[in-house]
Amino acid sequence: MPLAIQAFFVSLLFFSSIASAAIVEHVKNVVVKPLCKEQRIPTVNGSLPGPTINVREGDTLVVHVINNSTFSITIHWHGVFQLKSPWMDGANMITQCPIQPRNNFTYRFDITGQEGTLFWHAHVVNLRATLHGALIIRPRSGRPYPFPKPYKEVPLVFGQWWDTDIEQLNLRPAPICEAYLINGLAGDSYPCSENRMFKLKVIQGKTYLLRIINAALNTHLFFKIADHNVTVVSVDAAYTTPYGSDVMILTPGQTVDALLTADQPIGMYYMSIIPYLSASSLAPAPPRKVINSLIVYKGATSTTSPSRSLMPSQINSVSTAHRFSSNITSLVGGPYWTPVPRHVDEKMFVTMGLGLEQYALRKPRTISLQEAYFYNISGVYTDDFPDQPPIKFDYANFRVHTDSEKKMIFPERKTSVKTLKYNSTVEIVVQNTGIITTESHPMHLHGFNFYVLGYGFGNYVPARDAKKLNLVNPQMHNTVGVPPGGWVALRFIANNPGAWIFHCHMDAHLPYGIIMVFIVENGPTPETSLQPPPSNLPQCTHDPTIYESPTTNVGLSY
Ligand code: C2O
Repeated sequence: MPLAIQAFFVSLLFFSSIASAAIVEHVKNVVVKPLCKEQRIPTVNGSLPGPTINVREGDTLVVHVINNSTFSITIHWHGVFQLKSPWMDGANMITQCPIQPRNNFTYRFDITGQEGTLFWHAHVVNLRATLHGALIIRPRSGRPYPFPKPYKEVPLVFGQWWDTDIEQLNLRPAPICEAYLINGLAGDSYPCSENRMFKLKVIQGKTYLLRIINAALNTHLFFKIADHNVTVVSVDAAYTTPYGSDVMILTPGQTVDALLTADQPIGMYYMSIIPYLSASSLAPAPPRKVINSLIVYKGATSTTSPSRSLMPSQINSVSTAHRFSSNITSLVGGPYWTPVPRHVDEKMFVTMGLGLEQYALRKPRTISLQEAYFYNISGVYTDDFPDQPPIKFDYANFRVHTDSEKKMIFPERKTSVKTLKYNSTVEIVVQNTGIITTESHPMHLHGFNFYVLGYGFGNYVPARDAKKLNLVNPQMHNTVGVPPGGWVALRFIANNPGAWIFHCHMDAHLPYGIIMVFIVENGPTPETSLQPPPSNLPQCTHDPTIYESPTTNVGLSY
């Protein structure tokens, strides 16, 4: 039976202040076949993943988005600070109404104070499943990396694939995905894609910089290379102390830059990913199948079969993930490193986890939250997000005892924000709950990096845990995996006026309400104040079909 397929095409024209001329890429209707079935998908410039944007720190990036699709979209620049450009964050209904079909919008912002690998993606419903691509920020010309110059740089973009119309992804519960992709390819674990595997050709003795992005919608992924160790030099575009490891974990929304030296005998070696499924009791789980790409040494013969690596098993995956995540430290004294602020102005303890209320997230519908704030329009949100959970309970080992505890399974639908003074230092302990199940949630903050001062399992106990926090060389992130049944302690400086979301980067969890908003107030000068929106900022339509899809109805819960 023929399915009505909704395809849409977005064209991006990239250019930036880098010396070269404008890069123009053309829109194309794309049919892809990662597995056995042909599927028409929405793409940016006709490719999956979409085009890589290369800039240098200090550049102004200008991207024209031409929406030739049937969907309303926004593009978010994941991890970019957007200092003084809060209208360019691309968060649907938070910083702008979406760009409607047959409309255009130009994103223009400076990229300052950060280097490394980030990515861009659609920020509306599940459209980022196929609308994403790498955003690589290199040092300004003449400035070296704080590590030996690699021979080559190689983006590795992990995606998640459904053999289904993208529209179907709006259904909940979302269907189980079929596969994961490495640079758009599913590799030899599937009969139909045996010959479509990403291959990296290397020369023995040379060093390569892998720029790894987990763009999967809903799944943490382990990454491992057979017989090779890598050295992590950066996470979320923040330099780290070089950290040698044989395996790494990336939550949705995280990036890792790692040096790989081709120091093994000439041959072929698998580079593989496998899902990390931390939820103890959530069924059904996506397939836990190894997805391969390949390193091919120059001179290797294709008659020998590639070496495989032993991927973490379900049994040891929590400890493997925790070891990798918690061992990373920042590169003290490196580019853009700043010491942890010792004085804290705002302390928050926020509990977070899945409930059963699928419509917990209530997003503004007629105007973006940031516009409502700027124009002082009431009725869009309330300014009462609590600093402490309204009910105290045994968070990590939740069992329903009382009626008020039962209520937490179906939280109140709300759009409440936390307002912060300009330049205040905020400490948030994010406590994962076990209300439905314990599970690692990747919490992503727009507009800022935060210091990750510590990770732990069980309930956070200030008297015991506060003194163990790392105030010396904590890792910096825009996205952190909160351990299943555990906590993280974060700090950031609210130096950027505007409305910024803090949310779980597993898109399936947004409608359940794992999202909140910080409003950072103006500083003392016009320079440090939220400026009026650009005159062509997309306006909301009153066409209900654009907003009534259940997953675009965003609310807040805690
Ligand atoms: Cu990568 Cu709010 O997103």
